[in-house]
Amino acid sequence: MPETILNKLRKEHREMHALLHEIQTARTNKLRKELFARWKEEMIPHMEGEEVTLHTKILNETPGEFTLRLVEENNREHHQIKELIQKLNFLDTESKEWLKTFLELEQLCSIHVEHEEGKLFAEAKEDFGPDELEQFAYEFEEAKHHHMNS
Ligand SMILES: [Fe+2]
Ligand SMILES: [Fe+2]
Repeated sequence: MPETILNKLRKEHREMHALLHEIQTARTNKLRKELFARWKEEMIPHMEGEEVTLHTKILNETPGEFTLRLVEENNREHHQIKELIQKLNFLDTESKEWLKTFLELEQLCSIHVEHEEGKLFAEAKEDFGPDELEQFAYEFEEAKHHHMNS
């Protein structure tokens, strides 16, 4: 059976959560750097893909005030995550400041995934049927690849 966008996103969330944990417990600085680079390669296209597919699809359904705020909240969190990534890019991975910022990022990502899977996914299930959610999975993949190659 084809996968829906929601299942695909859930799977990616779990993978990225595990990777964040690996980064946190990495025993060498070299490994920490490599894993963080890998996480960014997954996370940045993931967020872009969500923005151009799921968020946009929901906004196209003439959403009410509550839903608008929900999408705004998700976009804002993406923005905060991107800012923390930028900050980390300029810090030394061996510094205390890096670790402190990283832990902040990890926490923000957990909260974000909770919001997304809890509230945004519920909204998506109300707005769209299973066939549409399967179609969006393809569009999400395309958007991710498009982003990676641009
Ligand atoms: Fe996500
Ligand atoms: Fe997200």
